[in-house]
Amino acid sequence: MPQDPHELRRVSLNGLTRSFSGVRALKGVDLELRGGEIHALCGENGAGKSTLIQILGGVVRPDSGSIAIDGRPVRFANPASAIAEGIAIIHQELSLVDPFTVAENLALGAEPRFGPWIDRRAMAREARRRLDELGFALDPDAHVGTLAIGQRQQVEIAKALGRDVRVLVLDEPTAALSRAEAERLFAVLRDLRARGLAILYVSHHLEEVFAIADRITVLRDGSRVGSWPTPETTLGEVVAHMVGEAVDVRERPPRKPAGEPLLHATRVAGKTLRGLDLTVAAGEVVGLTGLAGAGHEELAAILFGDASRAAGEIAWKGRPFRPRHPVEAARRGVAMVPADRRGRGLIPTQGVLENMTIASDRDLSRWGWIDGRRRRELARTWCEKFEVAASGLSQRVLTLSGGNQQKVLLARWAARNPELFILNEPTRGIDVKTREAIHRWVDELADAGRSVLLITSDTQEMVRLADRCLVLREGRVAKVLEPPALTEHAVVAAMVEG
Ligand SMILES: Nc1ncnc2c1ncn2[C@@H]1O[C@H](COP(=O)(O)OP(=O)(O)OP(=O)(O)O)[C@@H](O)[C@H]1O
Ligand SMILES: [Mg+2]
Repeated sequence: MPQDPHELRRVSLNGLTRSFSGVRALKGVDLELRGGEIHALCGENGAGKSTLIQILGGVVRPDSGSIAIDGRPVRFANPASAIAEGIAIIHQELSLVDPFTVAENLALGAEPRFGPWIDRRAMAREARRRLDELGFALDPDAHVGTLAIGQRQQVEIAKALGRDVRVLVLDEPTAALSRAEAERLFAVLRDLRARGLAILYVSHHLEEVFAIADRITVLRDGSRVGSWPTPETTLGEVVAHMVGEAVDVRERPPRKPAGEPLLHATRVAGKTLRGLDLTVAAGEVVGLTGLAGAGHEELAAILFGDASRAAGEIAWKGRPFRPRHPVEAARRGVAMVPADRRGRGLIPTQGVLENMTIASDRDLSRWGWIDGRRRRELARTWCEKFEVAASGLSQRVLTLSGGNQQKVLLARWAARNPELFILNEPTRGIDVKTREAIHRWVDELADAGRSVLLITSDTQEMVRLADRCLVLREGRVAKVLEPPALTEHAVVAAMVEG
């Protein structure tokens, strides 16, 4: 963390415009960041938030517009020139090197040396110091690839703050964090604000935005709708500015009684799990949550076939269930949406159409030929249902905004109409309006007698959807909550109670 940032008054972004092959991502956006202020940037999926941040970070160049720091024009030809101005960015997709340890990732490019050798002890000591300063309980010698997503995010934050930072930009930093971990991060951000940093904060969690931001800017379709000091606006107003219309937020509907149990997990154990029992019945939404490392991530990994050497039994409809791949699971009527967007099979060279329908290709084929018309119909139906913002079915999936990539993946497996849906952080990075649409769709699944296992760190989502919520702590079920006892407060309390 910087000890004494040179005093920064303001960073001004003026008239930033950027198009990508015909898609106008930003249309002349002005924004002012001030030292000692947390500024939140809000907008629906595809509104242009990440594009703006990438311009500020020197990753993307604007077609027109300019940036000035304390009145001095700056031009960022590459990320290094933005870093040299003290701008640190934590991007939406994390960028750590998996086979390296936490300490190695933190030191990357600036390893302490002892003659020609890397001084590994100094490196570990320095990592420990930086992690302690932020209150992150991470082992400097752990390999980053073995960490849960929330822990990886902590490494990313510690890494970004290692340099002499004056402007810190976070693109959806809490999407992978539990409530308690997010609170920790906020304490860190408030501390940095007090030290005079300018902070730009992107989030779809509007309650968080109202808790932490001094000023809120809303983008819609690449244009700035406005900026307001937080006390002068309300959550409802911000949502209205984002979507341009009122959003109908529904209470949880009553559910039909659950049918017979279909998914059985018995005494599942592994690295963190210590004998977990779980059943999910037809027409039931069972939630699973905990702090990072509590075991819910490991159970997800086991179900998704990523974790080896786990003990215990998992059965689906009376037969053993341990698929190695979502496709294998899908053949048995189980669909799974893993949490890690990058590693989970978006086909980068292909468009929305192929990415959305690839799991359904068999159902769409006759005599080995894919029925193109039905395929496009299927893709269109889901694009509408999940409000995918794309220029067309042929837009390359990697050029979609983060939230829209998530929608495509969700739709890919939803289109299979599975009997059991294992959802891991289904609405991470998804805007309020589509989040509502996805929640309503989970209600429909339950109503139709399907089973859902919901793994989410979003306690609000948990309370909205789950019929029963298992809160894990240290590899065991610490608490089972059902409505009306299932409240956000009860979930958070069960996570942290010692
Ligand atoms: N390389 C690219 N090629 C084509 N289009 C792009 C590219 N990068 C971004 N876009 C488009 O620009 C628009 C804005 O995307 P951006 O990633 O800035 O949205 P966002 O506000 O960050 O959304 P989210 O909340 O989903 O992360 C989207 O329509 C996206 O498809
Ligand atoms: Mg984004």
